[in-house]
Amino acid sequence: MSLTNKRIVIIGGSSGIGFAVARLAVKDKAQVIIASRSKEKLLKAKDRLDVNVDTKTIDMCDEEALKRFFMEIGKFDHLQIPASVVETGPFLELPTETAKNSFSSKFWGPYMAVKQAVPFINEGGSIVLYSGALGQRPVPGTVISASISCAVEGLARALSVELAPIRVNCISPGLTQTELFDQWDKEKAKSFFDNRCEMLIIKRPAQPEEIAESAIHLMNSNYTNGTTLYIDGGYTLK
Ligand SMILES: NC(=O)c1ccc[n+]([C@@H]2O[C@H](COP(=O)([O-])OP(=O)(O)OC[C@H]3O[C@@H](n4cnc5c(N)ncnc54)[C@H](OP(=O)(O)O)[C@@H]3O)[C@@H](O)[C@H]2O)c1
Repeated sequence: MSLTNKRIVIIGGSSGIGFAVARLAVKDKAQVIIASRSKEKLLKAKDRLDVNVDTKTIDMCDEEALKRFFMEIGKFDHLQIPASVVETGPFLELPTETAKNSFSSKFWGPYMAVKQAVPFINEGGSIVLYSGALGQRPVPGTVISASISCAVEGLARALSVELAPIRVNCISPGLTQTELFDQWDKEKAKSFFDNRCEMLIIKRPAQPEEIAESAIHLMNSNYTNGTTLYIDGGYTLK
C-alpha cells in the first residue's frame, strides 16, 4: 500500500501530532489538507511543511460548518482527527460546564466530523481518531480526560462495525512533546514532564513523529480495523 496521490484530510493538522502526520504523509507524496480553527496557525504550518499543502479553517464543533467543509473538499481517502482542546482537573473542583466543553471538543467534535465526512470517503478509505493513555491508566485529576479517551476508543470500535468497509481505528498517544504544552509555565511543564517520564518504561516523552508513524501505518494497513494502538512508551504497563 502507498499513500502516493491519496487525499488526506487532517483536522488538527496545524500543530503537534496532526502536523507530524501531515509531514510524513507529504513525504509519501500524498495530497494533504490540514485544517484547524486558526488561519494564522495553518499558514505557519504550511510554511514549515514547505510543499504544496492545502489549508482550510474549520471549527469541528460546528456541524453546519463541517457540512460545508466536506462539500468544498469533495472526495478524499483518509480522515485523521487529532484536534481537541481538553481542560482537566480534580473531579470535585472542575466545573461541570468545563468538563462538558472538553467532551464537546474531543468526543462530539470527531463524532460530527466523521458523520459529515463519510459520504465523501473513497473506497479503501479510513478514519483515525485520537484518545490518550490516561484512558487506560488514569491518575488523580484526570477524570474527564480519562473518560473522554475511553469514549473515543469505543466510538472508533463501534464505527468500524457500522461504517464498514471504511476502516476506523484509534491511536492512544502517551506523553508527547507538542505545542499543547507551549502555554504552560516553564517550571510547571518541567516538573510535569519529569514526573510523568518516571511513569514510562521508555523514560522520555514521544516526539510527534513517533506517534505519526502509527497514523501512517493505520492508513496503509488494509487489515487493521476497529483497533486502538497504544503508543505510550509503556505508560500503561509500568
Ligand atoms: N501531547 C500529548 O501529550 C497527548 C497525550 C495524550 C493524548 N493526546 C491527544 O492527541 C491529540 C493531538 O494532541 P497534540 O498534542 O498534537 O495537540 P495540539 O498540538 O494542541 O494540536 C491540536 C490541534 O487541534 C486543533 N484544534 C483544536 N480544537 C479544534 C477544533 N474545535 N476544530 C478544529 N481544530 C481544532 C488545533 O489548532 P487550532 O488551535 O488552530 O484550532 C491544533 O492544530 C489530541 O486529541 C490530544 O488530546 C496528546
